[in-house]
This record gives sequence, C-alpha cells and structure tokens, in this order.
Amino acid sequence: MREAALDMSAREPASRAEDSPAPLLQGWGLCFDAGGKRLVDRIDAGIRPRRRTVVMGANGTGKSLLLRLLHGLIRPTAGEVLWQGRPLDREGRRGQAMVFQRPVMLRRSVLANIRFALAVRGIGGSERAAREAEAIERARLHDLAKRPARVLSGGEQQRLAVARALACGPRVLFLDEPTASLDPASTHAIEELIREAHESGVTIVLVTHDTGQARRLGDDLIFLHAGRVAETGQVSEVLDAPRSEAARAWLEGRLYLDPPPRHPPPRRNVRNPRRGTS
Ligand SMILES: Nc1ncnc2c1ncn2[C@@H]1O[C@H](COP(=O)(O)OP(=O)(O)OP(=O)(O)O)[C@@H](O)[C@H]1O
Ligand SMILES: [Mg+2]
Repeated sequence: MREAALDMSAREPASRAEDSPAPLLQGWGLCFDAGGKRLVDRIDAGIRPRRRTVVMGANGTGKSLLLRLLHGLIRPTAGEVLWQGRPLDREGRRGQAMVFQRPVMLRRSVLANIRFALAVRGIGGSERAAREAEAIERARLHDLAKRPARVLSGGEQQRLAVARALACGPRVLFLDEPTASLDPASTHAIEELIREAHESGVTIVLVTHDTGQARRLGDDLIFLHAGRVAETGQVSEVLDAPRSEAARAWLEGRLYLDPPPRHPPPRRNVRNPRRGTS
C-alpha cells in the first residue's frame, strides 16, 4: 500500500494552501492495535479550525476508531494526538464533544440528559439554565423535554445528542454517522444543527457514507482504506476525481480489498511541528 497521503491542502491552489491555518487538532502516525490486529495504521490527519472535515471509507476501515483516537477516548498504540500543537490532555478534551454512531441516552429525561452533560463539565447555575433552554430550543424538543430520553425515536434521540453536545460549547464537534438511519426530514434537521454550529464557529469532523451529505456539509475529506489514509483533499475534488483506487472503487460501489497500487504519486511531506518533517 502506498504511503498515507498527508497534506489536507495538497489539492488546493497554492495561495489558499499557504493561507491555511495550523490544524487545531492533529493526529501523527496514529496506530491502534486490538485482538492482535493493526486496525489503525500510521494515520496522519489534520483538522483545521472552523473547517468541516468529512471522514469516509468502507465499513470497518477505522473511521469510528479514528474519531475515538482524536477525541482521546482510546489511546493510540503508537503516534500522538496534538491539540493546538500540544499533546491532547483533559483540558483539550473539554474543548471537544462527540455524537456517537449509536446515540448514548442516559436513563433520565431529555432535559436531564442535557443537564447532566453540563454538570459533568462544571457548568451550573444560571449559565446551565440558559444553555439547557437554548439546547431545547435549538433541537425543537420543547414538547419532549420531560419525556424519558430512551423512549424518543431515533431521529429525536439524534437531535438531542447533537444539541446536548453543542450545549457544552465545544470548539470541535465529532459526529459519527449522525443521520445513518434517519428519514429525509430528520436528516435535514440534523444537517441544519450542524450547519448552524459551523456558522457559529464550531469545527466539524463528520463521518458519513452519504456523498450528498459530504458535499453539503464538508470542506476537507479524509478517505480511509484498511485503517490507513488512502486519499485527502477538498470534498468535491476527491468525490469528483478520486485519485486512489480505494476511493474510486468505493464511489463506484465496488468491493475493494486489495492493497492499492503505488499510484497516485506521493504528495509532498508536511511538517510535524514537534518532530520536524514527518
Ligand atoms: N476494541 C476493538 N477490538 C477489536 N477490533 C475492533 C475494536 N474496535 C474496532 N475494531 C475493529 O476495527 C475495525 C474498524 O472499526 P471501526 O468501528 O472504526 O470501523 P468503521 O470504519 O467506523 O466502520 P462502519 O462504517 O461500519 O462504522 C473493524 O473491523 C472493527 O471490527
Ligand atoms: Mg463506524
């Protein structure tokens, strides 16, 4: 397999690439092993501030694991995650929130789910009340606020999960297939929440299998194959003219299991601020 494509701006016009801000969040050489297998293999991924990064790839290629690594939920077997140029720590994690592939609902009311998330972050008093009200309003959950969260429909639970995550005021919001099993109206509602969050300055990292959603919501794209980065670039460039065989096969609906050939040519190296050129 060819070396991972490293540079998120490699396909941008030079002037834009030069203007690109330093990544807010960066994974360097991330590996994750479990059950005697290497599931994430030397992934370099830069998440630029205020941009929307989409992560795509076939089932089982490591998208959820990559999000968990970047969010600090699992420790990499090798490599490191940098938050604003420093190793991700507790404080850095407080700047992030995640909506999981299967939403996690506590056994309590909708409102109490939001309240708990805020309390865990030490947000109380009038600030908490204001954020709760805003989250309920944002997700249009007024009528359901007192209902047990676990009896909500899938779409309602996802709205709650996104609103609860945003109530915590993250700088980065990770969303792992947030609309995978939702109908068009619920999908639209979630996409609106994501769009509003981005407009208010939140950096978005979104896993999706939906190319339409990737185009609607994404700026940068990381395409994974077999635990590695097969290709990166702007969303439209990768989706319209994929360079890797893995992305091409996936977009054409072909099963792709073999290691990709050695083309396309490797991109130029990028600089690891802590280690020099990687
Ligand atoms: N803790 C673990 N122990 C062993 N294998 C694991 C573990 N976590 C994930 N895996 C395996 O790692 C691979 C990648 O998992 P991951 O959940 O990241 O895939 P994904 O790209 O998110 O797939 P999907 O599109 O189906 O959600 C899968 O083959 C999965 O079975
Ligand atoms: Mg997944």
